[in-house]
Amino acid sequence: MKSGIWHKRFKKPLHPTIKKFSDSTAEDERLVIYEIMACLAHVQMLRQCGIVKKTEANSLLKALNKILTQYKSGKFKMHSELEDVHMNIEEAVKIIAGKSGDKLHTARSRNDLIATDLRLYARDSTHKIISRLIDIQKQLLEQAKRNSNTVIPGFTHLRPAQPITWSFYMHAQFQRFARDLDCLKDALKRINVSPMGSAALAGTSHPINNKLTSTLLKFNRVAENALDAVSDRDFITELLYICSQIAIHIASFCEDIVIYTSPDYDLIELNDSISTGSSIMPQKKNPDLFELLRAKAGNAIGNLCSVLTILKGLPSSYNRDLQEIKSVLFRQVDESIKCLEVLTIGVARIKIKEKDWVHQPSFICATDLVDYLVRQGMAFRQAYDLIAECVGNSNNNIYLFIRLCANRSKLDENIIKKIITPYYTVKNRISSNGTGFKAVRQALKRAREQVFTL
Ligand code: ARG
Repeated sequence: MKSGIWHKRFKKPLHPTIKKFSDSTAEDERLVIYEIMACLAHVQMLRQCGIVKKTEANSLLKALNKILTQYKSGKFKMHSELEDVHMNIEEAVKIIAGKSGDKLHTARSRNDLIATDLRLYARDSTHKIISRLIDIQKQLLEQAKRNSNTVIPGFTHLRPAQPITWSFYMHAQFQRFARDLDCLKDALKRINVSPMGSAALAGTSHPINNKLTSTLLKFNRVAENALDAVSDRDFITELLYICSQIAIHIASFCEDIVIYTSPDYDLIELNDSISTGSSIMPQKKNPDLFELLRAKAGNAIGNLCSVLTILKGLPSSYNRDLQEIKSVLFRQVDESIKCLEVLTIGVARIKIKEKDWVHQPSFICATDLVDYLVRQGMAFRQAYDLIAECVGNSNNNIYLFIRLCANRSKLDENIIKKIITPYYTVKNRISSNGTGFKAVRQALKRAREQVFTL
């Protein structure tokens, strides 16, 4: 095999260590399919525009289809001496198609090819991440359905704040992923643009029809400017940003689960099939899975920073630095898909514990007592001060608190007890996006419609 398409230009071959260093065939493995797709579309366009004779174009297409079959049956092997996927496919076409193989690279460059391959890869990956997000959303809705009346403490600053339902909590996680999904769909508009025909940086003097190539590759439109098209990797940073956002949402969710499963909180039971033990402490049951998922956000943010830093200060047009972005993107896409799959398994196995405290008076409902006094005609700040003083003087004793409140507010003790009973307060929340049973039922109905009409 001839080493380097440009061997006629140089007097000496590339130093073997440098050759190895610049070879990208290993990471290009997953671009083979997209490269073949791009080549097939390009050749069809060349034939249609009369740039390459019909017979030659047909033999190129035949060769490409043969390579596609080889690839699908795992028989297509790249050679690292050929540096990258573009030269590997071109060489393979030449071997099969003979002389007409020399025409494949007409009116194109590796610069528009790599931009095209990466956009096709990013498009497929975005769809895959979207479908994993839908899976986790369905699982969250399933959890919400199973526990629609289960009340848990809602926290701010990790301290009990107001009671909420488990389904309300699940719906909150659902909404985060819904925004991620929306971002991905929006990103597709910018991903799905064809760089084909941009050639090296300045377009081409051949009478190409890049609209046709774009349509054949199911892109939405042709990139407006060839110079921009070969250097633009914004679609990658955008995708990596969304992956980071997803990872942060996963991490925050997992952090809650780690806390809620801890013996001090004791809100959630971990199924044995997603728990790990200790090599020394026989009593331990650890949530390692959720801790690992939490850590993955660090990698995602690192990958985004890595690509942004590679891009910072690059001159316009193609620069070889861009090659370094590929493996970071691939790694992150794999991670994002895996994390969503694992989280879906984890969520399906979470069991929330029903607790008696929700039917007993609790300080967690102090705000509801303030609101009750407001409904009786007292100004909010006065009502707040009254209850705050009772809390301060009650020495953390709920029955002393009830007595103090009854004395100060002239309310009946039994009414106070009822108002500060978590289950009762949740039942009586009426705001449309609040934790009230009815509001959550309606919100979940809208969520189900959203997911199942996708
Ligand atoms: N292997 C290169 C990459 O991954 C392909 C484009 C090479 N173009 C060039 N002018 N050297 O970015």
